[in-house]
Amino acid sequence: MKPNKTFALIGTVALTAALVTVLRTAPPVARAEEPKATDKTTVTYAKDVAPILYAQCASCHHPGEVAPFSLLSYQDAKKRASQLTAVTQSRFMPPWKADSHGEFLDERRLTDVQIATLKQWAAAGAPEGNPADLPAAPTFTAGWRLGTPDAVYQQPVYSVPAEGADVYQCFVIPTDYKEDRYVSAIEVRPGERAVVHHVIAYLDTTGEARKLDAADPAPGYTSYGGIGVTPSGGLGGWAPGNDARRLDDGVGILLPKGADIVLQVHYHPVGKAEKDQTKLGVYFAKGPVDKRVRIQAVIAPALRVPAGDAHYETGGSQAVPANVTVLGVMPHMHLLGHDMTVAARKPDGTQQPLVSVPDWDFNWQSTYMYKKPIELPQGTRIHLTAHYDNSVDNARNPSDPPKLVTWGEKTTDEMCIAFVFYTVDSEHLTKGIAATDVPDIGVGGKGSKMEKMMMLFDKNGDGKLDDAERTGMVQFLQDMMAKRAGKS
Ligand code: HEC
Repeated sequence: MKPNKTFALIGTVALTAALVTVLRTAPPVARAEEPKATDKTTVTYAKDVAPILYAQCASCHHPGEVAPFSLLSYQDAKKRASQLTAVTQSRFMPPWKADSHGEFLDERRLTDVQIATLKQWAAAGAPEGNPADLPAAPTFTAGWRLGTPDAVYQQPVYSVPAEGADVYQCFVIPTDYKEDRYVSAIEVRPGERAVVHHVIAYLDTTGEARKLDAADPAPGYTSYGGIGVTPSGGLGGWAPGNDARRLDDGVGILLPKGADIVLQVHYHPVGKAEKDQTKLGVYFAKGPVDKRVRIQAVIAPALRVPAGDAHYETGGSQAVPANVTVLGVMPHMHLLGHDMTVAARKPDGTQQPLVSVPDWDFNWQSTYMYKKPIELPQGTRIHLTAHYDNSVDNARNPSDPPKLVTWGEKTTDEMCIAFVFYTVDSEHLTKGIAATDVPDIGVGGKGSKMEKMMMLFDKNGDGKLDDAERTGMVQFLQDMMAKRAGKS
């Protein structure tokens, strides 16, 4: 099908205008916080410090978990007392990247008083206090945290080399349900805890991922940023310290009949060859599902980070497709990403912040789920603004010397996406009312406006944008923007 020329022009101008608007929005203002003092005269491990470490640190800092040492005993804590102060004061620990203040579920963030308590304790020489004051030590189950899953899937055994770059391996796991199912939660159990960094469960109903798997002789296939094909959906992800959690009753993620689960596992070599076989537990919705969770991918289509640019800015926006309720949001960039801010502008002009990650870290990606879901009326646009650091001073820069970086799947490419998880207010599946006009996954989805627009740059007509075509599109957009900027 040849694209219609008028649509091409209007579409591109609209896209450019949206970009220009976003590019002019001010960057977020960082909130400075000074730790407050505690009002205690004596601070002891047993009474004051252990409760903090048990609740906020031990989930990762216990044997067999991701953190490099345990923080369960007085001895563990005492020998690192000043280090605990340093990493909590800088907010390096616990790892939590959003600039949030209580709006998200499972927020890992110490209060100012907790930080001050650790500091005061270290300064006092890390006293133990009375062991009778110790709270009960946390217990960690080796089994499924949400109970026995309704279905358990397992990837083939994968050999992780002792050394070398991190590996992003995608395993295609067929499901053979004859009807659509609704998923309430997933739980991931890494086979070899030491090497599994994080896991994302994508869905593919096109069979394209199977082809990639078949073409790669290893178990699964390698793909860094996504799964190498446009996913049909996703069941969620897992990273260390993120406990599995069920969605509210009545809400479910669609597992379309016959879909393949594409399990993307991020492996981190640890100096010794390891074998992994990660398991995915799936929990289906218990009662009837009234609303389907959908995903809108808000992207910055123009992403072209010049070599050496320490503060490259880009952005994008997308209108919500109906009156919606936003459950959570997951920002996604690669190694050069520096910060991302996602906010909604309602039709009445009011701004609704969705998430801000001021200090992006590829290793700590989270889906930020709201305690209180956010209602957005039709006509709202979700805007994202992001910055990238492609200078030599960025220790995470995978290229030395830096090189021009554009969209792509490779470690050395970049992405700029905010995945927004939402339900449609008018949908009541229990009453037979489905929001059939709203795609399960927006933007990435086949036939979306954005895709049609991007396909105008598909010069060789193979149905996807290769690097050269993408570069052509971006350059076209940038020329347009430069022209507009020159006129205004
Ligand atoms: C979600 C998992 C997680 C939680 C929760 C967590 N840590 Fe960590 N911690 C890690 C990992 C992983 C590392 C290894 C460093 C890295 O890879 O970023 C680490 C490293 C550290 C280090 C060493 C830092 C360095 O410079 O080498 C200290 C100290 C530390 N954590 C203290 C804490 C304290 C104190 C808490 C609680 C207030 C905490 N951590 C909570 C995962 C966690």
